Amino acid sequence: MSRLLVTGGAGFIGSNFVHHVIEHTDHQVTVLDKLTYAGNLASLEGLPDDRFRFVRGDIGDAALVDELFAQADAVVHYAAESHNDNSLDEPRPFLDTNIVGTYTLLEAARRHGTRLHHISTDEVYGDLELDDPARFTEHTPYNPSSPYSSTKAGSDLLVRAWVRSFGVRATISNCSNNYGPYQHVEKFIPRQITNVIRGIRPKLYGAGLNVRDWIHAEDHSSAVLTILEKGRIGQTYLIGADGEKDNKTVIELILRLMGEDPAAYDHVADRAGHDLRYAIDSTKLRDELGWQPRYRDFEAGLAATIDWYRAHEEWWAPAKDATEAFYASKGQ
Ligand code: NAD
Ligand code: DAU
Repeated sequence: MSRLLVTGGAGFIGSNFVHHVIEHTDHQVTVLDKLTYAGNLASLEGLPDDRFRFVRGDIGDAALVDELFAQADAVVHYAAESHNDNSLDEPRPFLDTNIVGTYTLLEAARRHGTRLHHISTDEVYGDLELDDPARFTEHTPYNPSSPYSSTKAGSDLLVRAWVRSFGVRATISNCSNNYGPYQHVEKFIPRQITNVIRGIRPKLYGAGLNVRDWIHAEDHSSAVLTILEKGRIGQTYLIGADGEKDNKTVIELILRLMGEDPAAYDHVADRAGHDLRYAIDSTKLRDELGWQPRYRDFEAGLAATIDWYRAHEEWWAPAKDATEAFYASKGQ
């Protein structure tokens, strides 16, 4: 049994990971989370008191981070400002949390000799053409497009430098787009599902030809646990489940699964600098560590996600109006 510290554990993927760890291991879990607009304690309800505790705080608070690292055997670092559209509106919090926050954790890992797993994104590699047969691998050069992805790229490079220069025992994973329960309504899939529930027409940026490589959050969690247990120190592993779909296809599928006319959506202003396509080659993770995704049927996973949002309106309703007001102010 280990004591895990999970940063950002009240967010979408972090909370899915905490539930996964409690269910599939006997580890103790401490979550450190600032509870920004994206954090939600309701995502952590029902966890056992004898194996789980929550600490509200900022990963940039060096004294608090030091205290929590002293009590942890390993740290999984999810905390981040995560939304591209917000980073185009106000980049500063992305630098503070994604770069300075990660630096603060690395310094604590260095002092305490703590094992650290850093969660990152496929967006650090930039984008691909629609007809490019290539997918991202661990050797693809970094080429981020947005303030969000550039700060994630910066954080990855800090981790690599702390491994090489100071011997920090860290691994990195870069994952593609996640879907599943507990995702904030600002993101593409939950925004459209909750729009349909509210009687608002779904909103597609531009022509909607952009491709994302969808993976269920549960598969992301099992991959991270595998890397934590078996990954080689200093290595990067790409996580993906061969789930490429263009946005137009996804929005039409959501409408169809929800019993609506698949054409009943609006084209709205495109995202500035909008990445065209992401695609992950996760051969290294599968061959070296033996990981496999379980959720291979996107339509079934999406239908279950729709059911979850229908059944948990009390979870997402408090954020819905402010999120739509933000998008409306940008013509989206
Ligand atoms: P999210 O926005 O849903 O959650 C982020 C969490 O971090 C929130 O609970 C928030 O309160 C917390 N947080 C933010 N700033 C903090 C700070 N300074 N100190 C402590 N806590 C802070 O994000 P998510 O979608 O769950 O993403 C989690 C991680 O996974 C991020 O590092 C992101 O880059 C990465 N990632 C996300 C995806 C995806 O599809 N969502 C894909 C690949 C990688
Ligand atoms: O690839 C991994 C990344 O996936 C993570 O690093 C990010 O944290 C995560 O937010 C996600 O980034 P995206 O920008 O791809 O996700 P988002 O849900 O914001 O948008 C997905 C696609 O849908 C993108 O092409 C933009 C488009 N979109 C988005 C919204 C909110 C729409 O067409 N309409 C919308 O209303």
